[in-house]
Amino acid sequence: MGSYNVNAVVGVQWGDEGKGRIVDYLASDAELVIRFQGGDNAGHTVINEYGKFGLHILPSGIFNPETMNIVGAGTVVNFDRMHEEMENIRTSAGLEIDNVFIDERAHIIMPYHMALDGAEEGKRSEKEKIGTTKRGIGPCYSDKAARMGIRAADIMDPERLVERLKLILPKKNRDLEYYGLETVTLEEMLGKCAQWREMFGDHIIDAAPVIREAVESGKKILLEGQLGIMRDNDWGIYPYTTSSNPTVAGGCNGAGIPPRCISKVVGVAKAYSTSVGGGPYMTELFDEDGQKLRDIGHEYGVTTGRPRRCGWFDAVAADFACFMNGVTDVALTKLDVLDTFEKIKVCTGYMIDGEYFSYLPETRLQERAKPIYETFDGWMTDTTSCRKWEDLPENARKYVLALEKLMNTHITYVSVGPERDQLIIRENN
Ligand code: GDP
Ligand code: IMO
Ligand code: MG
Repeated sequence: MGSYNVNAVVGVQWGDEGKGRIVDYLASDAELVIRFQGGDNAGHTVINEYGKFGLHILPSGIFNPETMNIVGAGTVVNFDRMHEEMENIRTSAGLEIDNVFIDERAHIIMPYHMALDGAEEGKRSEKEKIGTTKRGIGPCYSDKAARMGIRAADIMDPERLVERLKLILPKKNRDLEYYGLETVTLEEMLGKCAQWREMFGDHIIDAAPVIREAVESGKKILLEGQLGIMRDNDWGIYPYTTSSNPTVAGGCNGAGIPPRCISKVVGVAKAYSTSVGGGPYMTELFDEDGQKLRDIGHEYGVTTGRPRRCGWFDAVAADFACFMNGVTDVALTKLDVLDTFEKIKVCTGYMIDGEYFSYLPETRLQERAKPIYETFDGWMTDTTSCRKWEDLPENARKYVLALEKLMNTHITYVSVGPERDQLIIRENN
């Protein structure tokens, strides 16, 4: 094997850090972009010469016709939504998307997965609600783990598909009945799968050899993470998590790339923080500052439209995230949202039941944690037209450098607006 050029982009908070925008920037010269986990629960905003797009299942490299995009083995795919997304881009931007391929190992989100996602949430108490995106992600991954899933490969093989569905459907119908939902028939499911085979059959491939060839020949590859580590199913705020691993390790597994071939890991973090859905979120603000972050940052979900919970930057969680992902370069986004704050706080530790914690504990303790803050002076200056590190006001630079120290990781990109060029690059030598 020669030298590698595989870069990963992952969220190091609770999701919505601005990954789509960073992938779009880094993908301009990438030969391959791979989504490695999750499904259309993602909402990645990309603003470029074609317009503004909220991408859900399509990888953020689709706008460059030279870039091949793969929806990898570790993902769960809703083909109807994928089709709808492509149609929207075709009608709004006049772009024919033909550079997306799906690994035949990816699991298919079936109609019953979506129905069950909503129903399961309905049975949970207010406190226990995960607040899922209701896209069928959890039920689909559950079936995968239970060896009851349908893979893209199965829809390409009608005989095998019938065999699989005959095994799976009685159990699914029992679940649907339990929740008082309409059951499904074999014919209906076969009909759906036949439609998907018709629409996407040419784009369902064995991606493993394609990816291996790209890795070994040193092609520039980008792994596009979905969500953030704080909702990772092992390391996040379980059970308020997603059912996959949005980490670099998840990326190696879900794309099919050996860990030693990863050259650079970009951890995307907002200069403050947000979270959508249930679970502990220690720096959440319920005051005017929280509302101000929501208003200025337009913090409403791309997928569900829900108002995002907003809070200060949690440096303890971010430091944990940078270590777990082996982040080499942080991309700090939305610094401009803080432009009009006189004082800015950063969480540097927690008090839990009278005890000081300098590290991120398990969910049950996070629920009782009180953040300890360090306060910084704001810069009270518009940063949206800054393009070089020296252009930033002194207090903004101080803030960024303080976060860098607290995360023990170099901040290479500072984003001061949603547009492609609103980015400051600080070389990581
Ligand atoms: P993702 O899910 O991680 O891709 O992030 P989302 O797209 O859900 O949320 C990020 C939002 O912030 C989008 O609306 C972006 O257009 C916007 N955004 C990204 N970077 C910046 C920035 O530096 N400044 C501002 N003001 N907005 C940004
Ligand atoms: P991007 O990729 C923010 C949250 C949901 C819920 C939990 C589980 O745009 O960052 P799921 O539907 O995955 O079973 O929901 O995870 N969630 C997200 N929050 N951004 C996302 O995606 C999310 N995808 C899922 O709100 O709490
Ligand atoms: Mg998002």
